Amino acid sequence: MLRIVQLSTEEYVRDVLPHSAEMWAGERSFADYAAEFGAVSASGFGRRRFRTLGLSLDGELVTSCKRYQRELRCGERTFRAAGIGAVFTPESARGRGYATAFLGALLDAERANGTDLVYLFSDIHPAFYERLGFVQLPSRAIVLRADTLPHARIPARTLGDDDWPAIERCFAALDATRTFALTRPPLIWEWLRLRARSAESSGVLVRLGIMRGRRLVAYVLGRRFPAVDSFALDEFAYVDDEAAALVPALIRNAAGDLRKVTGWLPPSPARGAIPRGAVRARKNAVAMLLPLSAALTAAWQREAAGVAASAADPCWNGDHV
Ligand SMILES: CC(C)(COP(=O)(O)OP(=O)(O)OC[C@H]1O[C@@H](n2cnc3c(N)ncnc32)[C@H](O)[C@@H]1OP(=O)(O)O)[C@@H](O)C(=O)NCCC(=O)NCCS
Repeated sequence: MLRIVQLSTEEYVRDVLPHSAEMWAGERSFADYAAEFGAVSASGFGRRRFRTLGLSLDGELVTSCKRYQRELRCGERTFRAAGIGAVFTPESARGRGYATAFLGALLDAERANGTDLVYLFSDIHPAFYERLGFVQLPSRAIVLRADTLPHARIPARTLGDDDWPAIERCFAALDATRTFALTRPPLIWEWLRLRARSAESSGVLVRLGIMRGRRLVAYVLGRRFPAVDSFALDEFAYVDDEAAALVPALIRNAAGDLRKVTGWLPPSPARGAIPRGAVRARKNAVAMLLPLSAALTAAWQREAAGVAASAADPCWNGDHV
């Protein structure tokens, strides 16, 4: 018999992580990978907004995923969103329809529970998820040559862990201008802070900000990868036009002497704060959405054309699950 089951942290670490680590542990040892997963699960975010689920066939786990509880602001309203990540079938069980059956059953359960939409980031051929009804959202990457960014003297300072509240306020000032966005209440920031500490990649974490008096008015988050001469830009924000004008120089500062700046194409209006650069479609982490409720379907119909035609993307890299 096929059954959807909720997996405890211990079950997920025992039954799934040893298989999926090869794909997703990055540069972490298995112990570190499992410890980071444990820390997320045990956090306030983990207890309230994060689940691991699986499909059990006659008691044997045949496929699994992570589920993130978020909210999406779409037009005038905010909707209940479920983010699905780390869909995984062990190699020996692949190609038998388990992931398809699992996701189909999960979508039925979400619909029945009043979830307005499900979203995910596909690393495989998006057709797999399109067959279940998901639609692709614009998912692009941008590359900037660091030497095309202004080399201005700006009073940039490194931000530490004490600066997270200021970062959150700065983000909120910019985010308030968006009509299509995954929202960031305090539990989501808790999760982002945990992720910022992850040892997944060898990149050197960079957090730079600009103060006006005691107020943080702009910040940049990313990682330096000297081996590939590249600064990976994750996110930036600013509180007003004056601060926005400093962002390119702030990114240049964050990149240091690295030649390239790479990242996801930022959402509007942040996209307008950086140069055009070279923009191309992403092959990994293709954002996809499936409206479930009538209310979200109607709201999405009003927003969809604007999202598709925008010169900016709908998500920050930090929204990735
Ligand atoms: C993707 C995955 C979960 C599918 O699990 P599954 O139980 O074999 O899925 P199903 O049997 O329901 O469907 C198989 C379909 O998966 C799709 N698929 C699997 N791997 C794929 C890949 N690397 N690229 C493109 N499509 C892929 C194919 O469309 C395949 O359809 P086909 O049999 O007609 O060729 C499984 O291959 C897996 O765990 N891969 C590694 C982890 C991963 O990449 N997860 C997805 C993250 S977005």
